[in-house]
Amino acid sequence: MADACDTIVELKGVEKTFRDFWLRPTVKAVDGLDLSVRRGEVFGLLGPNGSGKSTTVKMILGLLAPSAGKVALFGLPPGSPSARARLGYLPELSYLHPFLTARETLRYYAGLCDLDRATTRERIRELLDMVGLSDVADRPVGGFSKGMARRVALASSLIGKPELLVLDEPTSGLDPVSTNEVKTLVKTLAAGGMTVLMTSHLLGDAEETCDRVAILNHGKSVAEGRVSDLGTSLQSFFLAKVGEGRRFEVAPFLK
Ligand SMILES: Nc1ncnc2c1ncn2[C@@H]1O[C@H](COP(=O)(O)OP(=O)(O)OP(=O)(O)O)[C@@H](O)[C@H]1O
Ligand SMILES: [Mg+2]
Repeated sequence: MADACDTIVELKGVEKTFRDFWLRPTVKAVDGLDLSVRRGEVFGLLGPNGSGKSTTVKMILGLLAPSAGKVALFGLPPGSPSARARLGYLPELSYLHPFLTARETLRYYAGLCDLDRATTRERIRELLDMVGLSDVADRPVGGFSKGMARRVALASSLIGKPELLVLDEPTSGLDPVSTNEVKTLVKTLAAGGMTVLMTSHLLGDAEETCDRVAILNHGKSVAEGRVSDLGTSLQSFFLAKVGEGRRFEVAPFLK
């Protein structure tokens, strides 16, 4: 049985209500969420647009404070320096400085992780190679395509060799070949002992990559379990859980 140290992320009764300028509640983005991510697994946080995936991730990282409930990262409060030092994060949008080259971007993140010069040089070389950007390493990222920028951001999230890698929509904007490479990368990292928490609404990607998933809908977990225990495709399972009654009404528009 897993001991406490094997639980890398734990959420208990977590809620997040966003408020307007006058502190009036606007959206309940997360509504009573319980979740745990164990060491060495690839955990998928799935759900339709607006279901609360990124908000949950931001609370796990300590970037947003929950309105209620408890979040623990490595058994520590999220946002504590010792918890932060052990994680890597790929945000939903690749926020990169346009005037820095790919190599300079990675050097910047290596500095934040306090890596020494030799390790920095070595790791940048390995990561640029890994994400297939060695040939364009000295070009400013402002001129990169969306997929190339995503690769730089992914490499940046790995620069500190984190214990926990949090990926918010890692394959968004990537072509099918690059998507496959990212899926393989995630599986290889997990096989090497890294714990991965990823969000996605691309169910095929999640099905191939994740050990366990939780499906969010309107901020609540509507299902959680091992992908191998579903007994059906993740796509049909997902649609049965969250897809009922949802469709675009096109007829009035076409009239
Ligand atoms: N900073 C914010 N202020 C107000 N409302 C927000 C904020 N961030 C998110 N929300 C709202 O919270 C809800 C959940 O948003 P969230 O970004 O977590 O969804 P998501 O599951 O990541 O969606 P997507 O798949 O489109 O990325 C949405 O209704 C969104 O409008
Ligand atoms: Mg999101």
